[in-house]
Amino acid sequence: MAAAFLAAPALAQQAREVKIGYALAINSHYGAAANAWAELVEKATHGAFKFKQFPSSALGGERELIEGLQLGTVEAVIVSTGALSNFVPDVGVVDIPFLFRDTAHARAVLDGPFGQDLLGKFQKRGLVALAWGEQGFRHLTNNKHPVKAPADLKGLKIRVTENPVHITAFRTLGASPTPMSWPEVIGALQQGTIDGQENPMSVIVSAKLPQVQKYLTLTGHVYAPMALMVSSAFWGGLNDAQKAAFTEGAKAGALASRRFVDDVEQKGLAEVKAAGMQVVESVDKAAFQAALEPAYKQYAGKFGQKTLDQITGTR
Ligand code: PAF
Repeated sequence: MAAAFLAAPALAQQAREVKIGYALAINSHYGAAANAWAELVEKATHGAFKFKQFPSSALGGERELIEGLQLGTVEAVIVSTGALSNFVPDVGVVDIPFLFRDTAHARAVLDGPFGQDLLGKFQKRGLVALAWGEQGFRHLTNNKHPVKAPADLKGLKIRVTENPVHITAFRTLGASPTPMSWPEVIGALQQGTIDGQENPMSVIVSAKLPQVQKYLTLTGHVYAPMALMVSSAFWGGLNDAQKAAFTEGAKAGALASRRFVDDVEQKGLAEVKAAGMQVVESVDKAAFQAALEPAYKQYAGKFGQKTLDQITGTR
């Protein structure tokens, strides 16, 4: 850790409050990231900053959180890529189904030049993104029937994030994708206005989805990172030592989220089965990829084949 940000103790000063918002409970991968981020910053700045956490969408859905960051009404957020590509369109490329071979591949891309360049693209949109955390690979849940093959998706009303890449994918697969902000999802599943949703095991467990969903298919269709960000206004008011503390803290937060995901990927399946979910544990990914062919053509047109090759070519 850079000694530079071990600034003079802010003994007599009152700590500056850092409001941090995110979608899930404090005992989720988001909470793990926020706790690690807060701990490092508070320690490295000798208490010059104090994080105040707003978990469980207390400040609104992810779109509202990002807008709050742009307006400077919230200092820090952790969000999925769900709503992000409406603000930073280049981010959408990571949402392409079956783009990443596995977790190691996704982490190598996001920690390497591609992922770091992508973080740099946020600045033009009035956002400062400091690190890529992780949610895991997204899987499908629903209340109608076990989904074993693409044909089983036909007509299912699946809640998707407000993300054009996800919407295209589910439409191409024959489902009826319903973009919806996360805070509305549990109610909509309970009322039956949607049949299903898709999220990684970290979310399925943290948000207690087995209470409102019968079937789970481990599709692993999309890798889901999350971005640890601060507002430009807040960032502009920090000195170099404090910027270094926030950056190192965000990296520690990202690491904490990955550890949480590693753990929940090991234990989550047994947990959701014990909670009554019926699980289809594997699908023929090639069949899903074949069904997605028209969507892949659109993605290549949108993001450029060169970009896709750079990602798939990363070892
Ligand atoms: O599905 C989403 O909207 C996101 O994955 C969630 C659950 C809000 C976590 O960021």
